[in-house]
Amino acid sequence: MPEIAFVNGRFLPWDQATVSIEDRGYQFGDGVYEVIRTYKGVPFELEAHLNRLDRSANELRLLQPYSRSRWIAFIQEGLNLARYQAAKVYIQLTRGVAPRDHAFPPQATPTVVMTIRELIPLNERIREDGVTARTCQDLRWGRCDIKSVNLLANVLAREEAKAAGVFEAILVRDGQVTEGSVSNVMAVRAGTIITAPEGPRILSGVTRTVVLRLARKEGIPVQERYLSLDELYGADEVFLTGTTVEVLAVVRVDGKTINSGRPGPIVSRLSAAWAALSG
Ligand code: PDD
Repeated sequence: MPEIAFVNGRFLPWDQATVSIEDRGYQFGDGVYEVIRTYKGVPFELEAHLNRLDRSANELRLLQPYSRSRWIAFIQEGLNLARYQAAKVYIQLTRGVAPRDHAFPPQATPTVVMTIRELIPLNERIREDGVTARTCQDLRWGRCDIKSVNLLANVLAREEAKAAGVFEAILVRDGQVTEGSVSNVMAVRAGTIITAPEGPRILSGVTRTVVLRLARKEGIPVQERYLSLDELYGADEVFLTGTTVEVLAVVRVDGKTINSGRPGPIVSRLSAAWAALSG
């Protein structure tokens, strides 16, 4: 089954899918993106992802080249071509091609790229046992709510995690836990889920929103506030949420074992609720 590439309205063979060296996404990171996954061939929370793409583009005054219905049609066409049961759709929208100058070019047509690849699910064992994490200084800019392709601080944090042999980097700014390098972070203390509030310091994950909705439906109290590092280490449970990780327990942070070192009851309940919703 093929990996699918799309550039500016056309599906192309992978090796012919290219953009200009003067694309502002390449030169300045002047663009936004989304990652959407499918379950049984159907995109999950597509409207929420496209809403966030619109929002990110608006915040950067980037022109959206396609209407909502056109986006949906292109994504569907790509999925039909790919025929993966579980696919990862990557969409990137940049300010387009122009001679290098930091200020916006007077005229540029946005560049749109989409790729569709098979999504390899996380190993079941990892899901059952939970993962490890380490904390990293959150070095990102002041608008983490925009899903921008400017990901250098995330890249460095993720690399630090990888080099340390742990699964995720948990970002900490001024002693407060913001989120993961590719996920949102939640903790459970005395039966309450605590997670950083929406705002410029985190990307408001689509998975985060769905998981908090599931939690409230299950009668689990939620507090949207920052956690200190000590609260994180001393939490009853810690978990990550995100398109690629779904709901994933963290059992050790910075070498400190979280509670019993096993995924706890709330993350297990939420994982089950997630599976029921997505499966
Ligand atoms: N990232 N926070 C950050 C910094 C992220 O990069 C992501 C996802 C999330 C979770 O968002 P969502 O639930 O909408 O996937 C939170 C994607 C998967 C990526 O960059 O590949």
